[in-house]
Amino acid sequence: MSHLIQKYNIPGPRYTSYPTVPYWDQETFSNAEWMSTLKKSFDESNEEEGISLYIHLPYCESLCTFCGCHKRITKRHDVESPYISAVLKEWALYCDLLGSRPKIKEMHLGGGTPTFFSPQNLKILINGIFELADKADAYEYSFEGHPNNTTKEHLQALFDVGFRRVSYGVQDYNERVQKAIHRIQPFENVKKATEAAREIGYTSVSHDLIFGLPHQTLEHVEETILKTKSLRPDRLAFYSYAHVPWIKGNGQRGFKDEDLPSPNAKRQQYEEGKKLLTKVGYKEIGMDHFALESDSLYQSMVSGKLHRNFMGYTASKTQVMVGLGASSISDSWYSFAQNVKSLEEYERLVGDNVIPIYRGHILTEEDRVIRKHILNLMCRFKTAWGTEESFFPEISLAKDKLAEMEQDGLVVFGIDELRVTEKGQPFIRNICMAFDVLLHRKEPGTRLFSMTI
Ligand SMILES: C[S@@+](CC[C@H](N)C(=O)[O-])C[C@H]1O[C@@H](n2cnc3c(N)ncnc32)[C@H](O)[C@@H]1O
Ligand code: SF4
Repeated sequence: MSHLIQKYNIPGPRYTSYPTVPYWDQETFSNAEWMSTLKKSFDESNEEEGISLYIHLPYCESLCTFCGCHKRITKRHDVESPYISAVLKEWALYCDLLGSRPKIKEMHLGGGTPTFFSPQNLKILINGIFELADKADAYEYSFEGHPNNTTKEHLQALFDVGFRRVSYGVQDYNERVQKAIHRIQPFENVKKATEAAREIGYTSVSHDLIFGLPHQTLEHVEETILKTKSLRPDRLAFYSYAHVPWIKGNGQRGFKDEDLPSPNAKRQQYEEGKKLLTKVGYKEIGMDHFALESDSLYQSMVSGKLHRNFMGYTASKTQVMVGLGASSISDSWYSFAQNVKSLEEYERLVGDNVIPIYRGHILTEEDRVIRKHILNLMCRFKTAWGTEESFFPEISLAKDKLAEMEQDGLVVFGIDELRVTEKGQPFIRNICMAFDVLLHRKEPGTRLFSMTI
């Protein structure tokens, strides 16, 4: 295995979208085109399947030095109200554009730290959203909570407005690792936050774990998994630490590169960690995710409904996903659009009644075909192409690239179809890269992506 790791551990996208953000075409994008494709997609799908809503809440009180998320560190809580007013204003602009009341099937509050905001302000936010929208018949609302500051009041406030799923950032329980990533978070805090969620009636609690962190060893990973098991979260993310200091700057400089485990040690953490998670009862879902058999993510994988978007894996697909808040990305299925990242500019634009998009991409027919293959691979570890092959010669190109992976035992070809083997699953990002024709046409000149392994 180690020679395969050496061979395939290269920079590569995580494919939360296709085309990936660095390959969005600004030339063919305009705000007007984004809005018209969004409206078209909404009219096609809202009645039947509803929409997804992502709300980015960017504040944290303290900086974790490993963090790759878009956040602003502050202890001042007077930032809460103006930010929430801006998000509600942005939502009103979208609802105006859409013309009829959206039915919200999925909603996710991400960050930053949503639980930086007071329970009262979170309630104002969600009630404000529902002044202009309705809940879909079956819905899943979730939020990211920091175990150190998620109170019973937070959990109750969000439960009262329909939230049933919470994910907590855990990362690793070892003290030395926690010190290096500037995140002191005792097991007791996670236990309390997990139990409080269950007592209130949350039906799905998720924990985020990371391997490959500074000073982390295989023993730390195993210990963290065993402690996690004792709390029995319904879902688990088991992320590979994405070290992207050229993007994240100071935030990822709280430790030296030498403090990170070697690629082989990191891969061993992944493999042994995965074995242990499976042994203690978790099923692997696509890339990086695990769930108990009773959880809706597992059930949607079994029924073939699993989907992946900017929020990660989700139990069902909606054609429209609106992202509110600074840096959020929206997806109309025909196009992507991203909001400005600066909080000041975000609040200023929304204050001027402008939907605060600064870049995006209108998908071509070719993009949509390739996106479908990448989604199939990410969600089902297989794809089939039938008659498209002659239409898009690059699919033949993918075949050439994949032939080598077949020799390495990572994939198996059938007639017009491709299946990822168990051995190939850790290399799923590399396999998707074979289909990524935009990447083939123009290799990035500078470092854009984290390592695939
Ligand atoms: C927005 S944070 C979670 C919510 C909350 N702020 C907290 O820290 O508990 C989302 C998750 O992204 C993951 N994450 C952040 N930076 C990462 C990185 N560089 N590599 C891998 N995973 C990362 C962490 O597991 C984290 O829990
Ligand atoms: S890991 Fe969470 S709390 Fe830490 S800086 Fe990132 S978003 Fe904020």
